[in-house]
Amino acid sequence: MFDFKDKVALITGSSRGLGKSIALNLAKYNCNIVINYLNSKEKALELQKEILSKYKVKCLCIKADISNEIEVKNMIDEIIEEFNHIDILVNNASIAIDTTFEDKTVSNFKKILNTNLIGTFIVSKYVSKYMNKGSIINISSTNSIDTYYPYSMDYDSSKAGINILTKNLAIELAPNIRVNAVAPGWINTDMNKDMDIEFKNKEIDKILLKRFANPDEIANTVAFLASDYASYINGEIIRVDGGINN
Ligand SMILES: NC(=O)c1ccc[n+]([C@@H]2O[C@H](COP(=O)([O-])OP(=O)(O)OC[C@H]3O[C@@H](n4cnc5c(N)ncnc54)[C@H](OP(=O)(O)O)[C@@H]3O)[C@@H](O)[C@H]2O)c1
Repeated sequence: MFDFKDKVALITGSSRGLGKSIALNLAKYNCNIVINYLNSKEKALELQKEILSKYKVKCLCIKADISNEIEVKNMIDEIIEEFNHIDILVNNASIAIDTTFEDKTVSNFKKILNTNLIGTFIVSKYVSKYMNKGSIINISSTNSIDTYYPYSMDYDSSKAGINILTKNLAIELAPNIRVNAVAPGWINTDMNKDMDIEFKNKEIDKILLKRFANPDEIANTVAFLASDYASYINGEIIRVDGGINN
């Protein structure tokens, strides 16, 4: 369907979860892949092995904390040394620390903003220097738009920041780089593995499709936005949530 032959994509936080699905999906369409990870080295190396064995593409695997400017700069230098360009950036890496309001701390709030929001800014800043023509896709969340779950107010704030960052980057990087965000609803990944079953069932009840998303369903939207089929979509926040009846 899509063809990303000779293109290079960096997917932050692609050792597992949605990032992994995005990496596999882009590789399936002939894209060279850079897997970025922080802690899950084994999983990242396994994914690299899987991509190299299944698809005729190149695949690098680089450890870097996206909230650390020096580490990001070193990662981009390593990619440029290997490929000389980057065409697709998916800012996917993110953390959440859901707690009651009472248990929220300034230090954790800053940690979440540093990773999710500032990290997206840092990686976009360094990658865009090497993008002649390309596409940046930021992974936001429907929590950035709908406020109904104060346990994740810090995470939701970081994602709302990503939405406005997306729109500003689209202005700053036009006309050669398109910048969009995907705002998924609930996805079946590790992020939700410890979710209370009663809460989960209530959430599923609000979703018109009566289930959480499979990561591949979000990865398909990302591939579409990265492709020329989306050549006139820019500065948008696209919900992919199965339809919600609140
Ligand atoms: N799951 C959902 O229901 C849901 C809903 C809406 C939006 N989203 C968004 O979708 C994206 C993926 O979520 P997910 O559910 O796949 O999350 P996940 O399973 O928790 O995976 C998070 C990924 O981010 C990486 N990461 C975290 N901090 C990092 C850092 N400082 N530097 C580099 N990598 C880092 C992790 O790498 P290591 O394991 O190597 O540390 C991991 O690969 C996120 O942006 C999330 O906010 C998720």
